[in-house]
Amino acid sequence: MEQNLKGALELSGAEACRDYYRDWAATYDSGFAQGMDYRLPAHVAAAYLGAGGDGPVLDVGAGTGLLAERLCEMGFQGQIDAADFSAEMLEVAGQKRLYAGLFQVDITQKLTLERAYRGIVSSGTFTAGHVGPEAIANLLQVALPGALVALSINRRVWTVAGFDRTLQALADAGQITDLRLVEVEVYGAAAAALDADHAGDRALVALFHTV
Ligand SMILES: C[S@@+](CC[C@H](N)C(=O)[O-])C[C@H]1O[C@@H](n2cnc3c(N)ncnc32)[C@H](O)[C@@H]1O
Repeated sequence: MEQNLKGALELSGAEACRDYYRDWAATYDSGFAQGMDYRLPAHVAAAYLGAGGDGPVLDVGAGTGLLAERLCEMGFQGQIDAADFSAEMLEVAGQKRLYAGLFQVDITQKLTLERAYRGIVSSGTFTAGHVGPEAIANLLQVALPGALVALSINRRVWTVAGFDRTLQALADAGQITDLRLVEVEVYGAAAAALDADHAGDRALVALFHTV
């Protein structure tokens, strides 16, 4: 079976998702990311840095490390750790030598990491067939007070999966502040030739501070 975006977005359950990325790790950058002109990591990096983000920062669902690549290209010099439940994706990320720590964890479970973070970033992980809003509470547990969080959430799941309600409830409860949403394009023009159904996908980058 050839791994692709359509298959990834139709995944159901953690085990299926982990298996899919095990088989996708080797071709994710050269096939999917290049072919689709995948711009989301750059948008998240720009939003995080533009809002004054610094390190140490945890990249959640880091995959092959595209978000760390964009952060470093944009001049970020702080420590970046990676969290992902796919050992194979983390192995590709590790080869890029941009992450200080690589943690194989399931972010839908309570996280016990070695340190707490001044920032949390994520691109592409909160989308169909992947991770829902229930994981956000786990991320807050590993963030220092006042940490900056920048998470991409695909438009297709924003309301239907309840990301809007979860973030608003956290804001209403005073657990997060300064919630802002930046809408961005997930892919560039080249994507239309590869996957016309998803080429026009948009995501919201949710930016907020922990308290
Ligand atoms: C679409 S990829 C995004 C990778 C990278 N952030 C990017 O933008 O290229 C989604 C990543 O989330 C990871 N992932 C999915 N569910 C997860 C979970 N419950 N816990 C940790 N990682 C998960 C997958 O292994 C995969 O590497």
